[in-house]
Parts: sequence; structure tokens; C-alpha cells
Amino acid sequence: MRKTLPNTGLSWATLQSELIQAGSRDVKWREGRAAVYVFNSGEDVMQVAHDAYGMFIAENGLGPAAFPSLKRMEQEVIEIALSLQQAPEGAMGSMTSGGTESILLAMKSCRDWSQQHRPVLGKPKVVVPYSAHPAFNKGAHLMGLEIVRMPLRTDFTADVTAMAEAIDSRTVMVVGSAPCFPYGVIDPIPELSKLAADRGLWLHVDACVGGYLSPFMRCVREERQLPPLTSWDFSNTGVSSMSLDLHKYGYAAKGASTVLYRDKSMHDAQIFDFADWPCERMTTPTFAGTRPGGAIAAAWAVLHYLGFEGYLDRARRIDAVRERIGDFCKDNGLSVHGDPQLSIIAFGDPSGDILAAGEGLYKAGWFSSRVRKPDGIQVMLSPQHDKVVDTYLDEVMRQVQRVRVQGTRSSGDVRYS
Ligand SMILES: Cc1ncc(COP(=O)(O)O)c(C=O)c1O
Repeated sequence: MRKTLPNTGLSWATLQSELIQAGSRDVKWREGRAAVYVFNSGEDVMQVAHDAYGMFIAENGLGPAAFPSLKRMEQEVIEIALSLQQAPEGAMGSMTSGGTESILLAMKSCRDWSQQHRPVLGKPKVVVPYSAHPAFNKGAHLMGLEIVRMPLRTDFTADVTAMAEAIDSRTVMVVGSAPCFPYGVIDPIPELSKLAADRGLWLHVDACVGGYLSPFMRCVREERQLPPLTSWDFSNTGVSSMSLDLHKYGYAAKGASTVLYRDKSMHDAQIFDFADWPCERMTTPTFAGTRPGGAIAAAWAVLHYLGFEGYLDRARRIDAVRERIGDFCKDNGLSVHGDPQLSIIAFGDPSGDILAAGEGLYKAGWFSSRVRKPDGIQVMLSPQHDKVVDTYLDEVMRQVQRVRVQGTRSSGDVRYS
């Protein structure tokens, strides 16, 4: 039967216990059982985000004149993001609701900016590596763009030569990820940057995962005297825009990302300005009208609460867990896909069906993603995983051995999303 609105309101005590009950069947992320969707960097950080969100729960980012507080916080968040990414003077950006919105906005800005500055005849085209997030196809679908996905190199990074061959007279945008979601590897942004500059194209770097992690991971690698991460920030002069999620490795409350542009003209192409209706002229920088003040305040508060040292500490912990998983794979005949250097690692099993082992892990309460081409279990790590990595790897070993011994094949009866 369809649910209807209760006639009289229920007490908070009743509702709270219903909510606790509702959540009791969710993945136990507080116990470190989720390696996707949740980015747990500790109770204290969560509390700061929670309290800041609550303080601005009713305020609306749609009205900067009414809420100069939110305007200032957003401006400061953007300035911090720009400085972390070596953005040149005059670079600009906006806070958005998440990675998908940041990507869609960059595509819209590229389409409109190109129309004005580098018009093409026919349907504008976007060239992306096969590993790019589905948000790019969503954007192309919504904005009437053509999109082509080009095969990867054997190390799972973007094949710049193949992408160059796919560029034609209608191409306006090329894309690289830092890192891509499936394998956690960073695309060769310096090469893509050169390609974009040579061919007069807009390069978008999707750093939804790496945006607020790699500036600190660079320091971790320096401390460990490892080769530097592939450079992907604005110091690559062909980079026009980038998407960076605060609600991933910024550890902010959900509903917070940033989209940045090399210059004001590119950011201007994002803005929608409309006056032909009976009310005030409405100027909205993003797709949303109302924007939650809580998400802006929580992101601002967490950035200031953690500071450089706090993020560096979390990056060190993630780095140690990723290394631990990599070593475990090496010691146990599992193969890591490519050379992941940030927070995502995907691994397969040349001696068994890794997806069957993944289904066993899922049934044992460990929630992560799987990849194809080749098959693998993929985990997106949080700092708090350092508390459970050994227990997790014990279960991986149990499942891998079970599958190897019994020759189990994956049943496909587990829904991951
Ligand atoms: C590389 C990458 N880009 C974009 C997104 C989309 O972000 P959101 O889910 O916040 O829309 C994700 C999400 O995991 C991602 O990993």
C-alpha cells in the first residue's frame, strides 16, 4: 500500500528510533566496511561538518545579498582550491553540489565559450579516455554534444596518441582524470595539456577524487623519497578547467564540490543570467537555484579544521593502507591494475575468479566496487581504513583461496549499486 502522510505528527524519539532501525541494514561504514561512497576521516571531522552544517541549515546560497556569510565562505573555499592547484592570477571557480555537477558545468562552459571563441561547424565533440566517469556521457547527452571514449594504454592510463587521432574539426574538449575511478591511476595530463594547447582545445581534468588528496600525497611521496606524482594542476598551461570534490577527500559533508577555470571568460560561460519575467533578474552561477548553506559552511569549516597538517596526516594514512594492500597482492599472487599512487587500488587474480571472491567479500559485509577489463576488486580508501586493513585482507585471503580451491565462478547475483 502507498505510504501516506501521518495525520498527526510523531515524536522525535519515535522517528529517531525508526531512523536508527532504517540504517541498521546499511553497510557498516563506521566500522570501516565501505570502500566507496563514504570518506571517513574520523569522528571529530564528522562532528565539525555536522555542527557547521546545522548552523547554516536554513541559509540559501541562492541569495548572496541576504547571506554575505555564505558568499564569503564560498569565495574562501574557491581561493583555497585555486591555491592548492597552482592556478594563475585571474582564475575563478564555483562550489557545486558534487562531482557530476562540476563536470556538467565544465562541459556547458566549454560548449558556450567555444561557440564564442573557437566556433565549430556541426555538433561539438568531446574526446575522453575509456576510464572517464559516466558523468561525461550524461553531460554530452544533456547538452547535445557528441562524445567518444578512446581505449587506454596497457598501464590503464589515457592513450594520448589514440585521443589525438580521434580529434577532428568539431572537437572542442579533451578530458583526463586525476585519477580515474576504475583503476585509480592518473592520466598523462602534461601530454594531454600539450595536445590541447597545440590543437586549440579545452582540457578538463577530472580531479573529483584526487583534487583534495594529491597536493598532500605529493608531500608524502617526497617524504618517502619516491618519484613525484604525475603533474595535473594548472601549471600545465593547456588545462582549462578541473573538477575537485570536497565531499570526497576534502572530508566535507555530502553536496560539496568545486569547479575551477583558468580565467574569468571561461567561468563567465558557466553563468546563467535571466531577466525576462515578472520578478528580479536572476543570475545563477551553477545548475541549481537554491544551494544548501549547510554544505558550503561544512566544507569551509572542515578545510579550516584540518588545515595543511591535517590533510597531510590523512594522506599518509591512506598511502600506508594502499601500500599494505599492494604488498599483500604481491605476496599472494594477486595482480594490481596499473600503478595506483593515490587512494584507489584495483586488483585481480590470475589463478581464480576475482569477481567470485568479491561476491564472497560482499556477503561477509565488505562493500566496495568491481572493475572489468580486466576483472578486479576495486577499493577507494579512507584514512580510517588503517584500523581495519588487516581484518579486510584476512577476509580477502579467505575468499580468494576458497574460489581458487573450489573453482567458483561469479554468480552475478550481487548488486553493487
Ligand atoms: C573520477 C570521478 N569523477 C566524478 C565522480 C562523480 O562524483 P559525484 O558522485 O560526486 O557526482 C566520481 C565519483 O566517484 C569520480 O570518482
